[in-house]
Amino acid sequence: MNTNQKLKGQSALVTGANSGIGEAVAIALGNEGANVVVNYVTNPENADAVVKKIQDNGSKAIAIKADVSNESEVQSMFQQMFDKFGTIDILVNNAGIQKDSPLESMSLHDWQLVINVNLTGQFLCAREAVKEFLKRGIVAERSCSAGKIICMSSVHQVIPWAGHVNYASSKGGIDMLMQSMAQEMAPKKIRINSIAPGAIKTPINKPAWDTEESLKRLLTLIPYGRIGLPEDIGKVAVWLASDDSDYLVGTTVFVDGGMTLYPGFSTNG
Ligand code: BGC
Repeated sequence: MNTNQKLKGQSALVTGANSGIGEAVAIALGNEGANVVVNYVTNPENADAVVKKIQDNGSKAIAIKADVSNESEVQSMFQQMFDKFGTIDILVNNAGIQKDSPLESMSLHDWQLVINVNLTGQFLCAREAVKEFLKRGIVAERSCSAGKIICMSSVHQVIPWAGHVNYASSKGGIDMLMQSMAQEMAPKKIRINSIAPGAIKTPINKPAWDTEESLKRLLTLIPYGRIGLPEDIGKVAVWLASDDSDYLVGTTVFVDGGMTLYPGFSTNG
């Protein structure tokens, strides 16, 4: 076990934590001593496995089922968290989905589903977290801020993405949601920032990396020459959640191997 834990005694909620980036973030926060709520909506067995990993590493964890786009399920999840851990110090708004299709055949259902989960879900969870942060205030033994929110965005908050207009719009929305919340909450000593991952090897983008051919094509977009790993995001989430990043307020940290450097321009333009 890590003996110099940066998040000792803090309580964290990670949405969509039963796979991919959310799983890695939940485990990384647990390794730093946080009590972790592993939120999920499907595949409870995966959530239980993440809980077990965190417990095996010496921290407390529970799985809570809730659809982040459903107001009453979100409120009940926070209540269950408070019953178990007493409070929340760190929210990682991670849950997100893709429902890709060409613009002309994108259904209203798929548009709304993606906006509801990816954007409205972040608002609903942030609102509940902020209520508790404001009520409780700073607890100096745990952190010098009254609470931290990390919004999982994407390089697609700035890179337009044909065939994914619902997803890219949700991520563009997260950027302005995050900055506006950060501006409003900074005077209350609540820090809100985003992580914008590039291509990270997770189930959401499996077709982009699971054959040699597709991976080769993907790597032309990544100057650093490798696909990202969920742990790359876990490490940055720990930093953003800890007092080491105390002066970071309303910022997006791009963790993308240089994808947003637009490598197509290195030999063109
Ligand atoms: C998407 C992935 C994609 C990556 C880079 C992410 O936000 O979820 O499917 O591979 O952006 O394009």
